[in-house]
Amino acid sequence: MILASAISVYVLSVGTFAGLTVALAGLLILAERFLVNYGVCKLDINAGEKPLEVKGGQSLLAALYANEIFIPSACGGKGTCGHCKITVTAGGGPVLPTETPYLSRQEVRSNVRLACQVKIREDIYVRIPEEMLNVKMFNAVVESATTLTYDIREVRMKLIEPAEIKQRPGQYVQIQAPSPDGPVFRAYSISSATYETDVVELVVRLVPGGIGSTYLHNIQPGDPIVFTGPYGEFILNEDPNTEIVCVGGGCGMAPMKNIIYSIYDRWPDRVCWLFFGCRTTADVFYLERFQELARKFPNLKIIYALSDKLGPEEKWDGESGFVHLSVDKYLEPGVPRQAFLCGPPLMIEAATRVLQEKGLKPEDIFYDEF
Ligand SMILES: Cc1cc2nc3c(=O)[nH]c(=O)nc-3n(C[C@H](O)[C@H](O)[C@H](O)COP(=O)(O)OP(=O)(O)OC[C@H]3O[C@@H](n4cnc5c(N)ncnc54)[C@H](O)[C@@H]3O)c2cc1C
Ligand code: FES
Repeated sequence: MILASAISVYVLSVGTFAGLTVALAGLLILAERFLVNYGVCKLDINAGEKPLEVKGGQSLLAALYANEIFIPSACGGKGTCGHCKITVTAGGGPVLPTETPYLSRQEVRSNVRLACQVKIREDIYVRIPEEMLNVKMFNAVVESATTLTYDIREVRMKLIEPAEIKQRPGQYVQIQAPSPDGPVFRAYSISSATYETDVVELVVRLVPGGIGSTYLHNIQPGDPIVFTGPYGEFILNEDPNTEIVCVGGGCGMAPMKNIIYSIYDRWPDRVCWLFFGCRTTADVFYLERFQELARKFPNLKIIYALSDKLGPEEKWDGESGFVHLSVDKYLEPGVPRQAFLCGPPLMIEAATRVLQEKGLKPEDIFYDEF
């Protein structure tokens, strides 16, 4: 009896304490939101290169965006994509638990933060790479929208303002898509070549229920469209004797198409491999146009592979099996190469293993997982 009442007193006190803590935390959040005024704070970029004055209380990402500094942000500032990393040298407060899953120990030591999670409460000092300061917001109009397969669509956007883009192969843009909670941004690789300066083309796979991909699968020629960019750190090896190996599947085609067309515009004799993995013939696209390009540039090698067994009606004279097996079959070891992989994580893992066996060093293998 005594033991039972002691336990109920204990449970009651713990419950009361927990309830009070939660209520207090809620009150603090509300008080900060409605009562605390941080005034105007200094936002210093690159040690005085771009000094700004911003309203305190907002996120660093929002303050930068309001000043037309477009940091990558695929989740719209919810702290779930890890894209919005920048260096905060002072005034950012402690690293929050919401940031740690996305930051390596080295990044934490180097003051890298998620800009969407850092709230401006005092003067703040940040470092932003020059290239990111040059990211622009583009107004464009849909020039064409072409169905490539049952779930992949090519969208070409004619630039209006600014009228030209300077991009490197392998870079991406962030498309602004409408959603019930306001506009969201989603990343899409640029599939048009670098010499097409007045157009940005995308290759988009429809994710059922997905906000960005559904929007891009429904827009029509003539529709206005807004995006920011270009983003991305891939640097193409400029030595024409270094072979380029592209391995991918599905919408991973986008950056690889850009790389291949941009390469043959500059180096007509360069050796370039495209290994493209599909499940069935229904997933095959762009094969004929690449075969035509390869007739013009014979050092371009095009290898498509189907991983599923052929159906009774299907005809196929390309490779069979997972695409990394084709990489293994065709590439001789010991040749100087740079590789760009783009597709699902399992494909990237398997292809990376094969490429390393062929002698490529980790720093020569670049990948985008999506
Ligand atoms: C650097 C970069 C480049 C990219 N380039 C391209 C590109 O060229 N072409 C392209 O089509 N996509 C590309 N993506 C993916 C793209 O940014 C979106 O993540 C994708 O289109 C889904 O967005 P959504 O708004 O349609 O779906 P959301 O509204 O974000 O998600 C809806 C639901 O689908 C799930 N989901 C989200 N993404 C996927 C996925 N990839 N597969 C399966 N389920 C998913 C979510 O968990 C959620 O449940 C790229 C991503 C990155 C980071
Ligand atoms: S914008 Fe996605 S984590 Fe910051």
